Amino acid sequence: MYPFQIKTKEAYHKSYQQSIEDPETFWASVANHFQWKKKWDKVLEWNFNEPNVKWFSGAKLNITENCLDRHLEKNANTPAILWESNDPEEHHRVLTYKELHFKVMQFANVLKSNGVKKGDRICIYMGMIPELAIATLACARIGAIHSVIFGGFSAQAIADRLQDASAEFIITCDGAFRGAKDIPLKSVIDDALVGNKTVKRVIVCTRTRTPVSMIKGRDVWWEDEIKKVETLGNPDCPAEIMDAEDILFILYTSGSTGKPKGVVHSTAGYMVWTNYTFVNVFQYQPAQVHFCTADIGWITGHSYIVYGPLSAGATTLMFEGIPTWPDAGRFWEIVDKYKVDILYTAPTAIRSLMGFGLDYIKGKDLSSLKVLGSVGEPINEEAWNWFHKNIGKGKCPIVDTWWQTETGGIMISNMANVTPAKPSFATLPLPGIQPCLMDENGKEIEGKNVSGNLCIKAPWPGMIRTTYGDHDRCKQTYFSAYENKYFTGDGCLRDAEGNYRITGRVDDVLNVSGHRIGTAEVENAINMHAGVIESAVVGYPHDIKGQGIYAYVIHDGSHGDPNLTKQDILQTVSRIIGPIAKPDKIQFVPGLPKTRSGKIMRRILRKIAEGDTGNLGDTSTLLDPSLVDVIKDGKIN
Ligand code: PRX
Repeated sequence: MYPFQIKTKEAYHKSYQQSIEDPETFWASVANHFQWKKKWDKVLEWNFNEPNVKWFSGAKLNITENCLDRHLEKNANTPAILWESNDPEEHHRVLTYKELHFKVMQFANVLKSNGVKKGDRICIYMGMIPELAIATLACARIGAIHSVIFGGFSAQAIADRLQDASAEFIITCDGAFRGAKDIPLKSVIDDALVGNKTVKRVIVCTRTRTPVSMIKGRDVWWEDEIKKVETLGNPDCPAEIMDAEDILFILYTSGSTGKPKGVVHSTAGYMVWTNYTFVNVFQYQPAQVHFCTADIGWITGHSYIVYGPLSAGATTLMFEGIPTWPDAGRFWEIVDKYKVDILYTAPTAIRSLMGFGLDYIKGKDLSSLKVLGSVGEPINEEAWNWFHKNIGKGKCPIVDTWWQTETGGIMISNMANVTPAKPSFATLPLPGIQPCLMDENGKEIEGKNVSGNLCIKAPWPGMIRTTYGDHDRCKQTYFSAYENKYFTGDGCLRDAEGNYRITGRVDDVLNVSGHRIGTAEVENAINMHAGVIESAVVGYPHDIKGQGIYAYVIHDGSHGDPNLTKQDILQTVSRIIGPIAKPDKIQFVPGLPKTRSGKIMRRILRKIAEGDTGNLGDTSTLLDPSLVDVIKDGKIN
């Protein structure tokens, strides 16, 4: 079924070798198994200095033909999407490939009739319902560029993203159900649109029946628009012919500066990469059910709920809810109900469920599970062992998949039942990936049992092409730290067998519950609060989230009660970014430890937040060393 699926450890090593020695022949042989309108003139052209990377240039295709049309002949009635509601009582939905194909074409026609053209940017802000996948694929069908924004981002965060992408269209829902909450998505969009001059049309899909205000001339209902195209009678929507390097989507992610970057992925390379990694890492077999618990608002959802599985003709399960509602047995109930074969989730979810004990697993049949996966942050051994023993019953391999929004798909991971796992190690690079470790002076660190900054030496098909509207930023962020290398921003060690273990970010980016949050972004948000003079944000180890957010804030004391002020600051961060960026701890301080040149010594703040105050290192370069004791004494536990 999947001619390039690697079956043995020996075959992995052989493929790896081939992919490095002759990448063009290797990737051409993989790409031959996709549907092209025209094949490429050249497999790869690249130059990391500019950077300029082109895969399969000259080729023409449409990714939705690979995700939908090509499965119709043999698998029209295979379920493409299984959908489980937030509410366990609500009936689930099944969309076969035939039905999904129909609905995508239908909605693509809605987009066209609303004036969307190839290359237009469309912001999608929806909950986890099948219409989210349909909207995403419908954009791709007609060559519009989707920018999906996670439903937890605030109006201000959306406004910034809309402006950065100069988006003219929005697809949203009245609201979204998440656990006990009902998130008023349309109302958030309305706030985001105050003062916006570029958005022409907002298409609103009904989910929660929350009252919404529909603005005449701008807002239309999804369902009404579908009816309109139905009356036209022709359900076909031919796939737009795209160049291999045409932009498929933009996805915003945090970096070490205050402003999120629009990571740009292109069409052909991303398709080949997500498909190749999906089929190989999870060892997907036809008719299996793949359950990735991420939200489509993040890259994991793009690559391993939508494009990877669908391009492989797989059955992908979409879950609207959260792991702990109505109780902590929700994932296991879903595994039992749909006989899930592959469960791909995040360490933070595992740690949170561990805390609820084993009672929620009792009585749930998990015997269908064959492969477990982890993504988003380093998985600690305790969580690994719990997952392996209690969920996998000791018989399912766990693939620890290291990758990033920028990499498009999995980069370093074991392959289920093919290459061995090693708890807390992502293990070996996938074919095509050449990791290396670099020291502070820009020299490569060779050998075994060494650690350094993780870089990648050569291009792979799914890699970032640019940051939207600002190519120089892409160059500065990823290709300038080390000559001729992509810099990941992660620290990493390599053991005696060549296994890689990611140790965490080496820049000012936090990883909170597997989500990337820039400290500068949180600081900017805190600083917007009246009365805040300055702030510094660092991460600290958090039992469930992996990292928690610790904020040191200088406040003018103008609002009296410090507890109320803290609440106000949290509210401000929620408004500016979203609830995910709210600090876990806020400490008011009289000043921040700065060097004479005015640079905040974050190392000291980090140590204090971590509770490691025994050895704060050299503090003699500080402008006011006595501040350190004051901050230490006021630490929030
Ligand atoms: O620090 C790494 C961590 O998550 C970062 C990427 O975040 P994001 O772009 O939001 O994508 C998350 C989902 C792909 C990385 O730089 N990370 C991701 N996966 C792992 C990981 N750290 C350790 N082990 C992993 N398996």
